[in-house]
Amino acid sequence: MARRPFFAANWKMFKTIGEAVAWGRTFRELTRDVADRDLVAAAPYTALASLAAEVKGSNVGVAAQDVYFEKEGAFTGAVSALMIKDAGAAYAIVGHSERRRIFGDTDASVNRKTHVAIANGIIPIVCIGETLEEREANQTFDVLDRQIKAGLDGITGEQVAALVIAYEPVWAIGTGRNATPQQAGDAHAHIRSRIRQWFGGDAADAVRILYGGSVKPDNVAELRAQPDVDGALVGGASLDPASFFAIASRG
Ligand code: PGA
Repeated sequence: MARRPFFAANWKMFKTIGEAVAWGRTFRELTRDVADRDLVAAAPYTALASLAAEVKGSNVGVAAQDVYFEKEGAFTGAVSALMIKDAGAAYAIVGHSERRRIFGDTDASVNRKTHVAIANGIIPIVCIGETLEEREANQTFDVLDRQIKAGLDGITGEQVAALVIAYEPVWAIGTGRNATPQQAGDAHAHIRSRIRQWFGGDAADAVRILYGGSVKPDNVAELRAQPDVDGALVGGASLDPASFFAIASRG
């Protein structure tokens, strides 16, 4: 079954509202005739509504970079699923390794965030991936298994089919050292086989699995050539709309 390619820009803590809108204007023009793939930009909360207004009616979707799992309440600094949806986001990145490492996200909180996103009609982009230490200790597949099992606990096969998984080896993020196509291909094949085992064949065939970690215009094609790599989650090389467009169109 052919899966629709998916390319997401993760701007991280970059771009003011004005910069986000300018990016959106350029990117929507560049992608005016691109209809065969999903294109998404994950903006800081402050720019979500303005970016969403700029790309409305285009092929470009908007994502938040995180979401809190509570509905509302005394949670200073947190932003709910309803709020990001209200701002125009259709997607939310969940469990990015920077959230896990710097802000204390765990498999359990990733699971709650994934549930709350789905319950609010937001498509989660669930990030998993091993550290360099874990890879060198031959624990990559064990780590991925734990992150999938705990992170997607209680999610139905039908819901898994509709979400997006991003495999991002932590050692490849922002380092300029991307996984080799073989390493990415092996990890993606493993992830899809676990989804098949735990959530069924329909979920495994449908779920988009993105590779993330130092994706650039000149390495995306070889990564995408792996049969289970359905697209990319791109940080640094997504800040310039022309560079992200090159990735999304070559991949
Ligand atoms: P990078 O980031 O492309 O800058 O390595 C990827 C990510 O963190 O999603």
